[in-house]
Amino acid sequence: MRNFKIWRGDSKGGDFVDYKIEPDVGMVILDVIHRIQAEQANDLAVRWNCKAGKCGSCSVEINGTYNNLKFHFRIRV
Ligand code: FES
Repeated sequence: MRNFKIWRGDSKGGDFVDYKIEPDVGMVILDVIHRIQAEQANDLAVRWNCKAGKCGSCSVEINGTYNNLKFHFRIRV
């Protein structure tokens, strides 16, 4: 079981929320977000298009660093 912290908030503020999932082999960050969205937080919004690192519509901040296209990084299981 792995813990993922996702910033949830609005224009007034927010906080990190913990989500625990068991990642499957080959999952990328975007897959993790989709599973969390489907199973634990159906109000979570995520923007993406190709899931292939081609369109540039996804970007994310991971561990405090803004990373364009890092949604496609594989999770170590
Ligand atoms: S969804 Fe297209 S680059 Fe990430």
